[in-house]
Amino acid sequence: MEIDIFKIEEFMNEYESRAKYDMTTTCIDSFSLKNLFALTGKNLDEIIEKPLHYGDITGSLRLKKNVANLYQNKTEKNVSVTLGAIGGNSLVFLSLIEPEDEVVSVIPTYQQHYSIPKQLGAKVKLVTLKPELNWHIDLKELKNAVTKRTKLITLNNPNNPTGAVLNDEELLEIVKIADNVGAYVLCDEVYRFLNHDKNSSTTSIADIYNKGISTFSMSKTFSLAGIRVGFVVANEKIISKINVQRQYNTISISALDDYIACVALENKDKISERNLKIVLEGKKVLTDWVNREPKISMSVLEGGTTAFVAYDDPRNSYDFALNLFNETGVLVLPGDAMEIPKHLRVGYCGEIENFKEGLNKFSDWLKKQ
Ligand SMILES: Cc1ncc(COP(=O)(O)O)c(C=O)c1O
Repeated sequence: MEIDIFKIEEFMNEYESRAKYDMTTTCIDSFSLKNLFALTGKNLDEIIEKPLHYGDITGSLRLKKNVANLYQNKTEKNVSVTLGAIGGNSLVFLSLIEPEDEVVSVIPTYQQHYSIPKQLGAKVKLVTLKPELNWHIDLKELKNAVTKRTKLITLNNPNNPTGAVLNDEELLEIVKIADNVGAYVLCDEVYRFLNHDKNSSTTSIADIYNKGISTFSMSKTFSLAGIRVGFVVANEKIISKINVQRQYNTISISALDDYIACVALENKDKISERNLKIVLEGKKVLTDWVNREPKISMSVLEGGTTAFVAYDDPRNSYDFALNLFNETGVLVLPGDAMEIPKHLRVGYCGEIENFKEGLNKFSDWLKKQ
C-alpha cells in the first residue's frame, strides 16, 4: 500500500545533523538523565538496578495513573501507553479508519494526520488554518467540511507549527460540530501545558467529549523525546480497540523509559517551570528579531515551541530554506513541507546563544538578498 513521503521527517533527516544553527527542532533543551535526576532529586543508582525485561506489557500502573491525573475523571483504564505520540496517532488511525470513511484534517499539522487516513483508503478533506485568523480554525469552514460520513476530525492543539492555542469556546464548538454527525475528534496534544500565558486554556478534548481522543507524550512538555513514550487517552471502549491494535506493533515500551517517564510526570511543576522559562526567553529573542526584520512577519505566539514566519521573497520555501542553509548553516523548515507556501517554521527553544547567533547570520544573509 502506497503512502506519501513524510515531508518534514525527510527534510530533517537529510539536513539536521549538518546544521550549525538548527532551528527545525520542536523540543525544549532535552534532558540528560543526569540533569533530570538532579532536578528531581533522584538517585541514578535506582535506574542502574532495573532489570531489562519487557516490563509491564501495557505500561506500569504507576505510569498510567500519572497520565490519567493530567485529565479530569480519568483512570488507568482510559490510557494506552504508546511508542511516542507518533505511535499513538498511528494506533488511533489503524483502529478507527476504514476505506470510504471521511476524515477532516486541520492543517498545517503533523503529516500523519492526513497521510495515514489517506493510505487507509479514507477520503481526506483538509481545512487550512489562515494567518488572518491568527491561525485559529475557521469554524464555519470546518462545519461545511463535515458530513454524515465523517468518521474523524483530527487537529493539533497547541498547534505545530503556528503556535496557536484554541480556547474553550472554540473547542466546545468543534465538539458540537463533531457530535452532530457522531464523529470522533482526535486532538494531538503533544504541546499541551506549553501555553505562554499561564491563565489560558489547557483543556483536553478527552475531557470535554465522549468521542474525544487525546494523544500526548513525554517529548515536548517534558523534554524527553529520547525515551519514546506517548499516550492515547480516551473512553474505555476506544482504548480497548486501540489496545488490540497495539498488541501487533508494540508489545511494551522500554521498562527504563516507563520509569523515567514516571519520574518526570511526578515532577511536572518543576519541569514546567524550567521549560516555560526557556520557551519565553526564546520567544522574546525571536519576536524582537522578527520586529527588526522588514522581510519577515509572524502572528502572535500563544503556545508550543515553534513559530510559522512569512517571508517576503519570490523563491518557494524549499529554495529559500536551502539557499539559507547552504550559505549560512542556519536550518529552518520550509512551509511547503507542511503544505503552506511562503512560510518557514522556526523552532525557538534550542540552546539560546546558538539561536541568537543563528538569527544574526540569518539577518546578514537577508540583507544580501
Ligand atoms: C504535532 C506532533 N505530533 C506528534 C509528534 C511526535 O511526537 P513523539 O516524539 O511523541 O512521537 C510531533 C513531533 O514533532 C509533533 O509535532
